[in-house]
Amino acid sequence: MAVRYYEDQRIFKLDTKNTTYMIGLTPEGYVGHVYYGDYMESADAAYLLRTGEHPYTPSVLPREKSSFLDFFPTEYPTGGIGDYRESCLDVRGEAGSRGCEILYDSHSIRNGKPGLKGLPASFGTDEEVMTLEIICVDKVLHLKVVLSYSVFEKEDVITRNVRLINEGEEHLRIEKVLSACIDMDDEEFEMVTLTGGWARERRIQRRRLAYGRQSVSSAKGGSSHQEHPFMALVTSGTTQQTGRVYAMNFVYSGNFIAETELNQHDAVRMVMGINDEDFCWNLRGGEEFQAPEAVLIFSGEGFGKMSRSLHDFYRNHMIRSPYLHKKRPVLINNWEATYFDFDTEKLLSIAREAKKAGIEMLVMDDGWFGKRSNDDSSLGDWTVNEEKITGGLKYLVDKVREIGLEFGIWFEPEMISPDSELYKVHPEWAIHIPGRAATESRAQYALDLSNPEVVDYAYECVAKILRSAPISYVKWDMNRQLSDLGSAYLDRDSQQELFHRYVLGLYEMQERLVTEFPDLLLENCASGGGRFDPGMFYYSPQIWCSDDTDAVERLAIQEGTALIYPLSTMGAHVSDCPNHMTGRVTPFETRGHVALAGTFGYELDITKISEKDREMIPEQVEMYHKYNDLVREGDYYRIASYRENHKYDCYLVAAKDKSEVLMTFVQVQCAPVFHGKKIRLQGFDEKSVYQLDGTKQAYTGEMLMKGGFVIDFAQGDAVSRLYHFVRINR
Ligand code: GLA
Repeated sequence: MAVRYYEDQRIFKLDTKNTTYMIGLTPEGYVGHVYYGDYMESADAAYLLRTGEHPYTPSVLPREKSSFLDFFPTEYPTGGIGDYRESCLDVRGEAGSRGCEILYDSHSIRNGKPGLKGLPASFGTDEEVMTLEIICVDKVLHLKVVLSYSVFEKEDVITRNVRLINEGEEHLRIEKVLSACIDMDDEEFEMVTLTGGWARERRIQRRRLAYGRQSVSSAKGGSSHQEHPFMALVTSGTTQQTGRVYAMNFVYSGNFIAETELNQHDAVRMVMGINDEDFCWNLRGGEEFQAPEAVLIFSGEGFGKMSRSLHDFYRNHMIRSPYLHKKRPVLINNWEATYFDFDTEKLLSIAREAKKAGIEMLVMDDGWFGKRSNDDSSLGDWTVNEEKITGGLKYLVDKVREIGLEFGIWFEPEMISPDSELYKVHPEWAIHIPGRAATESRAQYALDLSNPEVVDYAYECVAKILRSAPISYVKWDMNRQLSDLGSAYLDRDSQQELFHRYVLGLYEMQERLVTEFPDLLLENCASGGGRFDPGMFYYSPQIWCSDDTDAVERLAIQEGTALIYPLSTMGAHVSDCPNHMTGRVTPFETRGHVALAGTFGYELDITKISEKDREMIPEQVEMYHKYNDLVREGDYYRIASYRENHKYDCYLVAAKDKSEVLMTFVQVQCAPVFHGKKIRLQGFDEKSVYQLDGTKQAYTGEMLMKGGFVIDFAQGDAVSRLYHFVRINR
């Protein structure tokens, strides 16, 4: 049983294979956080709530209630009543004042896990997951707050979400509703976040926790390139294999906040949820609000264990796509090949050459619709530009399929160009503030997805095209962040619901898409990896990782991404050199090896690259077919990081049964030492003997992990090698 209630102790115990989480109730009904960490058998933990020490609970010492609330480790802090730390829930009643106090009312424990209305959420069978709901009530506001915990035993993950139900008649304003909180004592923590910008997404950042509040957030409408809805607190010195890691990740694709506060009592509070900046939700009598899900994980064995557990969790319980366990077709995308300058003939010439090289799908990127010949116009006008696509879309798709490739297409459905037919008819569909010229970004505005009519229109545009030809793949892009938050559809009091309603509209469109086209391969994208988050996994098994396709830059981007997300989700392509973003020249072979860690494909003009590079493509495609099952389904181990050592990068993927291991080594900066580099590996079975492909050399797993493996010296920067080890005995 993964969830138990110990009535005598008033303790809930949530167990996964390697971790335990405990919640306790005070006599008054405050819901306290007792323990999170390594698995333990015992539930005699009520003393850890520390209600027996000063300042005591309010029923014992009413005059010090505020001191109690500001000290008590709570499961779900509410604002305005004396807990001065970061709150999770701020409610303003009809009188205009803010204050909420929730006490335990009842609970339920069940097998399985219900879905979340309108939102992406993890799922599992009755055998895989158990759910505890703790129902709390604010008697003054007549507000029911349901704290929900789902325990995924095998993956060591606990997910949380919160539901608010207004059981009274008052019009409540929810000014903040976060999804999760962990109150702990400080363990000299360091904070780890993923940070970056466009073309340099999700780089790992680590810093010592300081007194006060420190946070990462997005208020841009999407989960963002800059900060990521992930935060971990780790004991100092945590490595891939050692150290205690407490992490949270948010299943949401809009504004978020992740914050930690180290306070006067040397206690730490980590919270995560929808960013309360410009958020206010009207909850009238009888209405409900569902906050998105947060994923919690504890690893007592460093980052590596956390990464592997999260990879398994997202693969097993978040991604629904039928492509999850399948090789994705090796695609060639024409963006970096042609940008906007293409027509049917050009695409067919790429398709013919691609076919010869073994590539399996052609993706037509931006520029095929309206009058779009650069990024100035036509978003919203999703009709095929037959001047470019001569013969029409169906003709092109049929031709590409005759050549022997599948066909994929690019959309940016959430957007509207001021220079578009749609804008002439429906300027009010663009998000804008009345009377103020809206801010353009990439010469475009975002559509008001709070308006169901707009959602219907945008969805139908995509669906109509997909119904018109046999299209196998869609790249769904989103190339601007939101600003000028104003909706012509919402009333005055609801304007601060727009950010969240936008995300709900987006989810609704993607839900419709995967329902109407169940065989479609959907890849999400937002100017590269600006909306690479677990919410999007619910709809698409892969997300374009970054517009930066430079192999060296990608090492850091993919390292940060793979810290929490499975390799199978990372959109990664081989592009031409000098790289369009960085100007760097790297060997074609290295570009192939680096892209192999993700979905793998090409983003170049195959009719124009050098003969030498083109000749390598069939080998690379073969390599993809040989290794993708392993890369997609295996266990990921980070061996060395270029980000840390400034010389080389190394990671490997081990089969779940340890029968084979694929290791990638990239010497980024050549250091002329003229002898090999010995590195200790991980992920092998100690007792097994492995043979290195292409050699007669055999190694025991124990020797590779304890003694190490020697990488021969090679001349050159950005030189890479793949090592495939296969078990030859058991
Ligand atoms: C974004 C995407 C690119 C490409 C362009 C097209 O930047 O990330 O891959 O599709 O849009 O405009």
